[in-house]
Amino acid sequence: MTKTTLDPQETEKKITVYVNGYRHEKTVEPSTHLIDFLRDHIGLRTCRTGCEHGVCGACTVRMNGEIVRGCLILAVHADGNDIETIDAASERGDLKDLQTAFHSHNALQCGFCTPGMLFTAAALINEKPLATRDEIREYIGGNYCRCTGYQAIVDAIQVVLVKRQKKHRLGNENNRD
Ligand code: FES
Ligand code: FES
Repeated sequence: MTKTTLDPQETEKKITVYVNGYRHEKTVEPSTHLIDFLRDHIGLRTCRTGCEHGVCGACTVRMNGEIVRGCLILAVHADGNDIETIDAASERGDLKDLQTAFHSHNALQCGFCTPGMLFTAAALINEKPLATRDEIREYIGGNYCRCTGYQAIVDAIQVVLVKRQKKHRLGNENNRD
């Protein structure tokens, strides 16, 4: 990870960020947030801004594989790093089972919160594969949805968790044979 130091005198900074596998060399103001960089400099309108204060989770993307809030990180701090947005994650099928479950459980309406919600749900599944319903609720508590209602979202995530658990159990049983 590149450590970018900020000189208070600097009004512009040249950075290189790898977004969805593509290298982008851009000049930004030091105060530009990562989410604005993705939307305005790279043109990714699928990246959302909501509260812009780290509260709603709409701006969630991945930096070097970890979820981050794009409104809390400066673009200069992404210098030299890999950023993944919902576009690339969807294209490579990484979120397919979650997306299918969200669709079949009507876990989205306007879709504004959905990229952040999917990234957070995927992180939960990796970190807590045995999460209970309460734990799902707690984990996604920092992602706000204004229109769907959390019941359907939690249902969709739980379905994927249970399917993964079954697959894991079957895999273990087959290995024992
Ligand atoms: S826009 Fe970043 S958390 Fe709300
Ligand atoms: S689906 Fe509209 S805000 Fe969540």
